[in-house]
Amino acid sequence: MTLLCHINDIDDDSSKGFSLGEDNLFAVKKDGGIFIYRNKCPHLGVELNWLEHQFLDSEGALIHCTTHGALFLIEDGTCVAGPCLGKSLEAVNFELVDGEIHLR
Ligand code: FES
Repeated sequence: MTLLCHINDIDDDSSKGFSLGEDNLFAVKKDGGIFIYRNKCPHLGVELNWLEHQFLDSEGALIHCTTHGALFLIEDGTCVAGPCLGKSLEAVNFELVDGEIHLR
């Protein structure tokens, strides 16, 4: 397992990007829950964000791809609007151990 960070390193209702070698990931903390996805839009396979650590829409309610505006549910990564409607972000499995996020 790979240590990603401590849950307190991610602010509530916000997102944070990580580079692990060739793997780019991002995590979202919402209502105390953590959700982690590969930073790869299912539309064209590009990274979702233009600005570092900014993966959410202006209301912080959905994950946003800045290239063509696709929107994804934070909880399961399903695209609910945009050109990849019905496809999903690739979730990354992890375990919480004493508040630390470990990738499987
Ligand atoms: S590349 Fe993400 S919506 Fe087109």
